[in-house]
Amino acid sequence: MKNNMIYLSLALAFVTLTSCKNEVNSDSSKTQTKVYEGKEISSEFDTTIDSLIAKMTIEEKIGMLHGNSMFTSGGVERLGIPELKMVDGPLGIREEISRNSWASAGLDNDFATYYPAAGSVAATWNPELSYTFGNSVGQEARARGKDMLLSPAINIVRTPLGGRTYEYFTEDPFLNKKLAVPFIVGVQDNDVMACVKHFAANNQETNRGTVDVLMDERTLREIYLPAFKAAITQAKAYSVMGAYNKFRGDYLCENDYMLNNILRDEWGFKGVVVSDWAAVHTTVKSLENGLDIEMGTPKPFNEFFLADKLIEAFNAGEISEREINKHVKRILNVLFQVKAINDTDRVKGSLATDAHYKDAYDIAAESVVLLKNEKNTLPLKLEGVTSIAVIGNNATKKNALGGFGAGVKTKREVTPLDGLKNKLPKSIKINYAEGYLERYSKNDNDQKEEVTLHGPLPVNELDPVKLEEALEAAKNSDVAIIFAGSNRDYETEASDRMNLKLPFGQEELIKKVLAVNPNTIVVMIAGAPFDLQEIEKITSTLVWSWFNGSEGGNALADVLLGTVNPSGKLPWTMPKNIEDSPAHATNSFPGDSTVTYAEGILVGYRWFDTKNIEPLYPFGYGLSYTNFELSDLKTDKETYYSTDTVEVTFALKNNGKVDGKEVAQLYISNPDSAIEKAAQELKGFKKVFVKSGTSEKVTILLPIKELAYYNELKKEWIVESGTYNLKIGNSSRGIKKEISINIK
Ligand code: BGC
Repeated sequence: MKNNMIYLSLALAFVTLTSCKNEVNSDSSKTQTKVYEGKEISSEFDTTIDSLIAKMTIEEKIGMLHGNSMFTSGGVERLGIPELKMVDGPLGIREEISRNSWASAGLDNDFATYYPAAGSVAATWNPELSYTFGNSVGQEARARGKDMLLSPAINIVRTPLGGRTYEYFTEDPFLNKKLAVPFIVGVQDNDVMACVKHFAANNQETNRGTVDVLMDERTLREIYLPAFKAAITQAKAYSVMGAYNKFRGDYLCENDYMLNNILRDEWGFKGVVVSDWAAVHTTVKSLENGLDIEMGTPKPFNEFFLADKLIEAFNAGEISEREINKHVKRILNVLFQVKAINDTDRVKGSLATDAHYKDAYDIAAESVVLLKNEKNTLPLKLEGVTSIAVIGNNATKKNALGGFGAGVKTKREVTPLDGLKNKLPKSIKINYAEGYLERYSKNDNDQKEEVTLHGPLPVNELDPVKLEEALEAAKNSDVAIIFAGSNRDYETEASDRMNLKLPFGQEELIKKVLAVNPNTIVVMIAGAPFDLQEIEKITSTLVWSWFNGSEGGNALADVLLGTVNPSGKLPWTMPKNIEDSPAHATNSFPGDSTVTYAEGILVGYRWFDTKNIEPLYPFGYGLSYTNFELSDLKTDKETYYSTDTVEVTFALKNNGKVDGKEVAQLYISNPDSAIEKAAQELKGFKKVFVKSGTSEKVTILLPIKELAYYNELKKEWIVESGTYNLKIGNSSRGIKKEISINIK
């Protein structure tokens, strides 16, 4: 077993912490935030690689530059070079796919752990759990004999309607990078390459195969690239996936500026660029502009752009052998780094173990967001309760499969209903009613391939019989819990949602259930924002859960029953209306043949806060069963230089009766700036466990260089001198204390 022992022991230390919820963790808040750093690609294999390349024919070399099956690129058997074996994806190791089609390979030994989706990981605001996820799923990739995991997906959530919102972490570049880095390090600690996707500016599914994304350079640098940059320069990711769309006129798999100038020249990337599936459009241009491996959807593999066509281009003198060797060398290099060639000491890994299910549980348990608990209904008090109505298709809906590359075949998926059955005393009767049906009308997209005008069209009428059953169950129970929201068919890759409305008539169902039983808890299971304005007005208790992995139902039941004190925080803004969101307010989604990101740097809460628009729930928001108090905010000095780091300290007190974790969030603002800046930006955070009735001293380190903006004219990051306000709070709108510093 290899593994970077430091990270492993840190991760284990954290698992111990999370599994002992009632013990004081005297160190966690005082120690500095852990720094995750990946292992650089070493040059130790250079000579071996050069001698291997010297023995290869041009056909063998080109064979390595494209898919030779759905999820492998070619090897050279006679030289002991194996195929490069890839696997999806963001929610766990995808089932084995046939070599020549998208059909399942039909194996019975490829059941994997279904991990919570990235949105859920982001809601934990816990980088250690992101490492846990990466490390755990990395082991599963190895157990399945894979070299490359097509994950993490770290595109910014630009619009709440994005079909892949649940696959991505957040709308905020700082939170994004703080979660992406440990995930990648965790994966690569297991001799597996992380393939960071989708590089870059791939923020909508609508017309994703053709749309040309336009934005100014500052926006690119400040919002859409920081997590990719950290993935390369800090986590040292070994591979990157080029996206489907165009950026400033060129497809991203043949984009010289993005792949050669930024990724390689500026950031020093030494790994391989893999295309998204069927995202390649040219031969010589793709290769010269930075693509290394072309992957695709079923057609004869020799017809790929980097297959026979490349041989022809070589024979016609349109591309040099030197250029081809460069790409082959990169591929061999990453294969050596993960010990795919000639190494007996490689991580063997393990699949769907209890330890991995526990990892999935730990993430899920910290991700649930308590949005409203006005009457302190939660945690559920069971004294005197003899019956609970469990209502909604989502109480039993399984979400492991779906969403193309993000599906996982698993033997364990604990649904919300299963979770309650597992955790409630047997004396309590559960009255289950499906309530609403998941139904779709014929989608006019069905006929067309790769047309992504909008997602599945839901039938929004309730079935009268199902409604009646639900109302009966609610009337005849002491408490009702409605599990509403969406699912992996409604939120999916390849299409964006048409609107924020809850599908399948759920709003009407919730209203009617609340009318017959006011003692009703509404639990949303979804990966992206929905319009909850009406529901928020009439319900006193609102919980947000996610596509939350194999153990999702157990974790959710533990939160509802108070075994786990909720500590999740929204990783994006929940708008009241879609028109309030920046891409929609500026009428710049989804565009047509081009889309211009007119809101610029004002993505997510940056827009809401700068334009003074009230969201339904702000970025970073989430309640607890206890009350925290933030006080005594200090910095170690008053004046700093651009190379300094501010030591921000404050006290975090738990004034309630139960232990809990709070996410302290550090926002900065620079009101006197000479240039346009967002009203505030997240620049630090820390999740802290505080025992009831005690206080922890918390330190957040803020390197001054984090305050830099990107100056387009100078092509440099510049920290403006002047006064900056540092604000500490428990959401972007829940600022508790402020302090100013000067920067010289
Ligand atoms: C997705 C990728 C995925 C690939 C392979 C593409 O459609 O965009 O995220 O890894 O398919 O399944």
